[in-house]
Order: sequence, then structure tokens, then C-alpha cells
Amino acid sequence: MTNAANPNLPPGTTGLVLRRAALYDLTVWLMTLGRERAFRQRILNLAHLEPGESVLDVGCGTGALAIEAKRHVGPTGTVYGIDASPEMLVRADRKARKAGLEVVLKHAAAQALPFPDAQFDAALSTIMLHHLPRKAREQCVREIRRVLKPGGRLLVVDFAASAPKKRDFLAHFHRHGHVDLPDIIAMLGDAGLNIVESGAVGIRNLQFALAMAPRGDQSARKT
Ligand SMILES: C[S@@+](CC[C@H](N)C(=O)[O-])C[C@H]1O[C@@H](n2cnc3c(N)ncnc32)[C@H](O)[C@@H]1O
Repeated sequence: MTNAANPNLPPGTTGLVLRRAALYDLTVWLMTLGRERAFRQRILNLAHLEPGESVLDVGCGTGALAIEAKRHVGPTGTVYGIDASPEMLVRADRKARKAGLEVVLKHAAAQALPFPDAQFDAALSTIMLHHLPRKAREQCVREIRRVLKPGGRLLVVDFAASAPKKRDFLAHFHRHGHVDLPDIIAMLGDAGLNIVESGAVGIRNLQFALAMAPRGDQSARKT
């Protein structure tokens, strides 16, 4: 089945799907002042990944976080990345190969994850939710909840609204949206996840919420 509106998108995809992968990497390089790896490590520290864990990066883009996650979980761990953009996935694949690390990349919509229930120890969604309309965000979070094991964690990182006077040249170069942290927290709670920690990432106006699927829940909830 294909997406009638755009045959290059997975069925059911809504949201702002990026195509200019090289430009995206340049934007992140500028945003992090050339220290993207440190930025990714800081985000991953919030997810408390352990060697051997299975990890899903939802809306993985050009793969930098998924590649760094593979370094954290090591050879016995597995990392999957999904994105609706073929162009972003091609670049992610090239970067993973160059790094000599195995990241399994799938072309899929965040609203319909191509995985069985309870497959992952951890899921990551970084600067992705603001690309989705509200309904799709809720579907995406419910899907992530479905594929998490009992006790599995979800880390969401996204932009908070910034005051207009604080907008810098980068904000004009890349006009990103935002999702308010209370909205993220409410959405995670509605999907049946328990909030563990939340707050500012400490980089630009990024904020995070870490949530956990209840333990002892052997049958992940169906959407
Ligand atoms: C701002 S990028 C973030 C990429 C990556 N998570 C990172 O931290 O660099 C947002 C990504 O979400 C993807 N995306 C947008 N809508 C999507 C959808 N409905 N399903 C899957 N991916 C989607 C875009 O193609 C893009 O690669």
C-alpha cells in the first residue's frame, strides 16, 4: 500500500517530513556549534541506556542519535530507526556504515510503527513531535507505548516556545515549531506511561520528558 498523496511516504503519514538531509545536518551542526556528538551524548544520558538494550529512534532523521545509541548499547544491543523520509534514511544509512555500526533503518510513519508489541527497552523521540499535528502526536505516543516492554522508557526531547526577542539567526534559518512540556507530559500520561523525570535539557530551549511503561503489564495496550 502507498500514500495516495505522496507515493514516497508510508501509508497514513501526516506531519512535516523532511527531504533535504544534507541541509538538516548543516542546521544541526550550526545549532550545536559543531559539537553535535556532545549534544547527542547529553540527550542519551537522559535515557539511561544500558549495554544489550533494544532501542527504537522514532523520526530518526539522518541517524546521528541512533548511531550514538548503538555505541551506548554495544554489540549485544540493537538499535532501530524509523523515519517517513527516504532521503533522511539514505543519509542515516551512509553515516552508520561510515561509523561501522549497525543501525536497522525502516521507512515508516511514526503513527504506525512496524514492530510487534513489547519489543523495545527504550524509545527516543528527539525534536520530532513538533513535526506532527496533534492527533498524529497522540497516535505516535500510543504506538511507542505499544512497542515498549513493561518497564521500558520513552525519552521525548523537543523545543519549547521561545520569546520572540530571543529568536536568533538560526531560528530564522530554520523555523521550527515547538511543543509545550505540559502537553508532552499530559500526552505521555494519557498513553499510559508514568513520568520519571522532566525539565530543561540545558541546550538552547530544548526540554525533555522521560517516561516509563508500567512494570508487570505483560500485554502492551493496543491502539
Ligand atoms: C527535526 S527532524 C529530527 C530528526 C532526529 N530525531 C534528530 O534528532 O536529529 C524530524 C524528523 O521527523 C520525520 N518525520 C516527520 N513526520 C514524520 C512521520 N509522520 N513519521 C515518521 N517520521 C516523520 C522527518 O522526516 C524528520 O526526519
